[in-house]
Amino acid sequence: MESALTARDRVGVQDFVLLEKYNSEAALIENLRRRFGENLIYTYIGSVLVSVNPYKELEMYSKQQMERYRGVSFYEISPHIYALSDNTYRAMRTERKDQCIMISGESGAGKTEASKKILLYYTVTCPINEHMATLGDRLLQSNPVLEAFGNAKTFRNDNSSRFGKYMDVQFDFRGAPVGGHILNYLLEKSRVVHQNHGERNFHIFYQLLDGGDDDLLTTLALERNPQSYNYLVKGNCPRLSSVSDKNNWKVVMKALSVIGFTEEEVQKLLDIIASVLHLGNTQFGEGEEGETYITTETQITHLAKLLGVDVSALRDALTHKKLTAKGEEMISPLNFEQAMSARDALAKAVYGRTFTWLVEKINQSLALKVHGKGCTVIGLLDIYGFEVLQHNSFEQFCINYCNEKLQQLFIELTLRSEQEEYETEGIAWETVQYIDNKIICDLIEEKHKGIISILDEECLRPGETCDVSFLEKLEDTLGGHPHFVTHKLANGKTRRVMSREEFRLLHYAGEVNYNVNGFLDKNNDLLNRNLKEVMCQSDNQILCHCFRREEVIHQKRPEMAATQFKNSLMKLMEILMSKEPSYVRCIKPNDAKQPGRFDEVLVRHQVKYLGLMENLRVRRAGFAYRRCFEAFLQRYKPLCPETWPNWHGRLADGVSTLVNHLGYKAEEYKLGRSKIFIRFPKTLFSTEDALQAKKPEIALTLQTSWRGYRERAKYQRIRRAVITIQSAWRGMKARRRAKRRRQAAELIRKLIKGFIYRHEEYCPENEYFLDHVRCSFLKNLRKNLPKSVLDQNWPTPPPSLVETSDHLRRLHMRNMVMKYCRRVQPEWKKQMMQKVIASEIFKDQKDSYPQGVGRLFLDSRLEREQINLKVVQTLGNDKYGVSVVKYDRRGFKPRPRQLLLTNTFAVLVERTKIKQRVDYTALRGISVSSLSDGMFVLHMPNEDNKQKGDVVLHCDHVIELVTKLAMMAGKVNYVNVSPGSIRFVLARGKEGIIDFVRGSELKVAKGKRGHLLVVSLF
Ligand SMILES: Nc1ncnc2c1ncn2[C@@H]1O[C@H](COP(=O)(O)OP(=O)(O)OP(=O)(O)O)[C@@H](O)[C@H]1O
Ligand SMILES: [Mg+2]
Repeated sequence: MESALTARDRVGVQDFVLLEKYNSEAALIENLRRRFGENLIYTYIGSVLVSVNPYKELEMYSKQQMERYRGVSFYEISPHIYALSDNTYRAMRTERKDQCIMISGESGAGKTEASKKILLYYTVTCPINEHMATLGDRLLQSNPVLEAFGNAKTFRNDNSSRFGKYMDVQFDFRGAPVGGHILNYLLEKSRVVHQNHGERNFHIFYQLLDGGDDDLLTTLALERNPQSYNYLVKGNCPRLSSVSDKNNWKVVMKALSVIGFTEEEVQKLLDIIASVLHLGNTQFGEGEEGETYITTETQITHLAKLLGVDVSALRDALTHKKLTAKGEEMISPLNFEQAMSARDALAKAVYGRTFTWLVEKINQSLALKVHGKGCTVIGLLDIYGFEVLQHNSFEQFCINYCNEKLQQLFIELTLRSEQEEYETEGIAWETVQYIDNKIICDLIEEKHKGIISILDEECLRPGETCDVSFLEKLEDTLGGHPHFVTHKLANGKTRRVMSREEFRLLHYAGEVNYNVNGFLDKNNDLLNRNLKEVMCQSDNQILCHCFRREEVIHQKRPEMAATQFKNSLMKLMEILMSKEPSYVRCIKPNDAKQPGRFDEVLVRHQVKYLGLMENLRVRRAGFAYRRCFEAFLQRYKPLCPETWPNWHGRLADGVSTLVNHLGYKAEEYKLGRSKIFIRFPKTLFSTEDALQAKKPEIALTLQTSWRGYRERAKYQRIRRAVITIQSAWRGMKARRRAKRRRQAAELIRKLIKGFIYRHEEYCPENEYFLDHVRCSFLKNLRKNLPKSVLDQNWPTPPPSLVETSDHLRRLHMRNMVMKYCRRVQPEWKKQMMQKVIASEIFKDQKDSYPQGVGRLFLDSRLEREQINLKVVQTLGNDKYGVSVVKYDRRGFKPRPRQLLLTNTFAVLVERTKIKQRVDYTALRGISVSSLSDGMFVLHMPNEDNKQKGDVVLHCDHVIELVTKLAMMAGKVNYVNVSPGSIRFVLARGKEGIIDFVRGSELKVAKGKRGHLLVVSLF
């Protein structure tokens, strides 16, 4: 679909600026025609959008199409009302400046449709403000309501706007619509009471009758048939083929509730609409004395009820008028005509004021709820187009005056300001001729001399005034004006096409004859005072709001209708002037409202009065785009390294550097005094595209700089904090150190002093020193206490602690011993006891003692198996046994034996035989030598001759054996260590001697004199 559209869009040119023959009106119309033939209804003249009414639904307004145009550069894509809407929106957002879109064109050209499309585009594509989620709906729904009450079928348009509308849409800083406001201009009230043939009253009347349910119509005392109402039959056109009143009724009712009308308000509104219909059916009769009375009693009762007023007061007010003469109030009856016009005036006033109330009410609903600064506005102006009817009256005069003003504004803003700007900027300019309509505007609005002033004057002048006298006054004052003609002033040819009651104005768009009939009345817009008084008392809240009591009390004459209109137009001009304008120029292709028909004569006429040719010529002669240096440089400076990020020289030089960098050719641009002018849109677009392409890079730069800045700031903060902490910490450390030093110095001083006084009694001078010395000694002692009882080291105590030291040493020693003893095992204790005994016996007595005691004393030196079983059985187990050598008493023959010790005796065993038993009790003593030999002698009693004598033995474990034997026998004190020799008893009183000597060789042998010689090693 899109590609097909693009392909078809190659018909003609999309922008009239691209026309070869840009000076030819025919070429322009031909281009329009060709495009229209292909349903391409939109074409540009630069930034102005020309739209031709297709009179059929085209598939070009879908949501997809909206998306297609969103954010896309104006000229990149085929011309569309959405492109203009989007461009305006973006201009508002980027430049933060209020915008307005002026939609102009004659009746039926498609202005209202265009404005609705723009509004729809904004409500669909703009972001939504969460506070105002329903605003879009309300903005959209205001249209059907206003159209129902303000639009009507006319000869030219089935849905003709019979009021002017300017609507502001307010956007917040994020571009979301947040509010709206509507200004309405001059409702064509006369339509309420009269319609030309083929035309209708306002839609709402028909919608109510067609769509309202039976109950509603009954409450309003209405019949369904519109033909029953005088105000609806004038044009003889109750129904429209193109519109369904019934459906529209539903749409309007829904819209009213969306906008926020309460049910009661809707009811009151419908009461008023019905009351207008009843007013139209109120008939008068004429009495015999010329007095007027109401003939339709039921009608007037319904009417009073619907208007919420007293029926007799209403009856009186419709047939009488109240006059004030010389301060006195007088009531005079109205004649038939006067009564009819009073009734119509009431109908118009009621309808007109209700319409104003409706707009106010809609405005309340659209009002900006969240007041935020930085709101920007897009204004939409949809105002009646230039109108030339068969019979043109006061309304057409006002409408066409309005169009003159808008044309003047258009000229002001586009043509003249453009030329003037080129001049002030010093740019060579090819002057374009255009019709300056200031002269016509002056003709209408000038003070004292203008048509409106003359009309007001005539309305206020005392004495007989009528429409004709107004015409005469115009002739007198304005006769000879080049744009003003009357029948009297005209030449013959013109006179033929003018009636005597007409004056002709030569508008910029063409000539229009205005019939003066009704001008004074319409301008006066008077409503009898007593009718106003009645209306003030209405209990219908809408009417109460519309008819204010002050109006009756002050009796100040309101401004005349034309002057009111003039003033409101002035205000509108001010509003429009304060905004950046965009234009939609609507063209009506034919009068028959038919699709596909292109009436060249009709289009040419519109092209002419819309000023499209002048517009085009100015565009071609001039430049497509201009911007003051600052704004241009500000926007595009990222595109040139010399201007980015900032240009510090003159702005003009900056712009020049920038465009040179961008490669602009001389014919593409000119530099004025404060602005740059770019001739072709394409130059600007390529620049804009370059900017768009550059944006991510700029964003990145901004991001990095910002992040860098943020991180730097963070780093600086941390650094400052670190320095603060550091200095605080260092300060504290230094203070501590200083304190320590001070204390140390004091200490040293105390020590030195103490040292000097150390020998004195404990006194303040030496107390610290002495304490310190003591303390040091004790601490030192704690660390260096002897670890074992054998360790003899002990720190030297100071003189004052010598006694304490000794105590401590003893204590410590006892403690160590105690601990040691606690640790000793029973076997070890036994061992120790044996060793202690061994020490008592042998220490320092026998040479072999140190080796002997050093060895472990065993429980037995013989294995169990080594002892004969019989012997074991005889003696029992667990005996100490050891191998010994027994030397015969005579001859000292050595005989190997086993010595076994029991608890009470010892036995000598030769293999299996117990050879000798030695009872411990009988044992007289034990002798050993002092040398390192293993000889020992058991001394036996010798009194008894039966005894064999002492036993001479040798054992390798003599220390162990003798100790054990002595202990077991309880004869420790009987052990005798003899140096040199041992005497022993041989049998029966004879004595033997063993001599011990040291030698180089170990030997036991029979020596001299029968002695036994034992040689032990040195
Ligand atoms: N873009 C369009 N697409 C389809 N139909 C259109 C379009 N524009 C206008 N029309 C048709 O033309 C009719 C008249 O248009 P519109 O009411 O917008 O005219 P207008 O310029 O507002 O006239 P007036 O000055 O009388 O109010 C519409 O009712 C509609 O049928
Ligand atoms: Mg309209």
